[in-house]
Amino acid sequence: MLERILMASVAVFSLGAGAAGAQTIGFSQIGSESGWRAAETTVTMNEAKERGIDLRFSDAQQRQENQIAAMRSFIAQGVDAILVAPVVATGWDSVLEEAAEAEIPVVLLDRMIDSSPDLYLTAVGSDLVHEGRVAGEWLVSAVNGEECRVVELQGTTGSSPAIDRKKGFEEGIAGADNIEIVRSQTGDFTRTRGKEVMESFLQAENGGADICALYAHNDDMAVGAIQAIKEAGLKPGEDILVVSIDAVPDIFQALAAGEANATVELTPNMAGPAFDALEAYLADGTMPEKFIQTESKLYTQADDPAGEYEARKDLGY
Ligand code: AHR
Repeated sequence: MLERILMASVAVFSLGAGAAGAQTIGFSQIGSESGWRAAETTVTMNEAKERGIDLRFSDAQQRQENQIAAMRSFIAQGVDAILVAPVVATGWDSVLEEAAEAEIPVVLLDRMIDSSPDLYLTAVGSDLVHEGRVAGEWLVSAVNGEECRVVELQGTTGSSPAIDRKKGFEEGIAGADNIEIVRSQTGDFTRTRGKEVMESFLQAENGGADICALYAHNDDMAVGAIQAIKEAGLKPGEDILVVSIDAVPDIFQALAAGEANATVELTPNMAGPAFDALEAYLADGTMPEKFIQTESKLYTQADDPAGEYEARKDLGY
């Protein structure tokens, strides 16, 4: 349905929005739960500025109802397009239908939803299952057949990265009978919750002596957990292996210090490809691919973590 509405509205956008770079775009961001999220916000604002886009920013403070309210406000303001990083995967149909009725294209950033793809123009993000699988495969190779009891810090419950990174990791370790996930709980993608939940894992697992590895769905939770491991008198990176996702500067410092072992990169530049797609669409109706995939890369202690830290430390994380 939206495809029909979007196609029908091309002429309106072409006349109304004018040349590329003259658009007004609403951005509903999840919040500031992690270093990665802060970087995504910074990159989006910088990209918008460079392109002369009037970006209207709304911070939802982790609440879907705030995101839906912001999107309704953007629709009422008559913006040319909406970017949304959806905090959870379900519950978006109504507001997306409202945007479609108003002929406003919506682009998803970094997290996916379970609505019909007809209800949004495109989604920019990584293969979240692949990220988890890479982390799992790394662990299989790192423990090389040794028995390994794993604790898992999940992301925000109901979010696509939490669902998909869990699935991917399980796929990555499938077939390795020596590896078992013994505890798994949400740390909500935050450093504080990561530390608290890791403390409870350590307590429940013989002070940490029965834990071989931590898998965290993001680096911030891993950094919090590393602190908890140190406070328990153990050496993160040695007594307990640490693998996580994002590749933020702080995890490179931990890798350089030998306190983390591996991270899978998630680029914070989702806005560049999103604005490219929107500018082409608004200019002449060019339809983008439904999913614009960003790269994921594994980094370990062997990949010059000190240099990677230096290269990233001023990028808005
Ligand atoms: O949706 C991407 C995830 O959200 C990042 O991995 C995490 O750090 C953030 O909170």
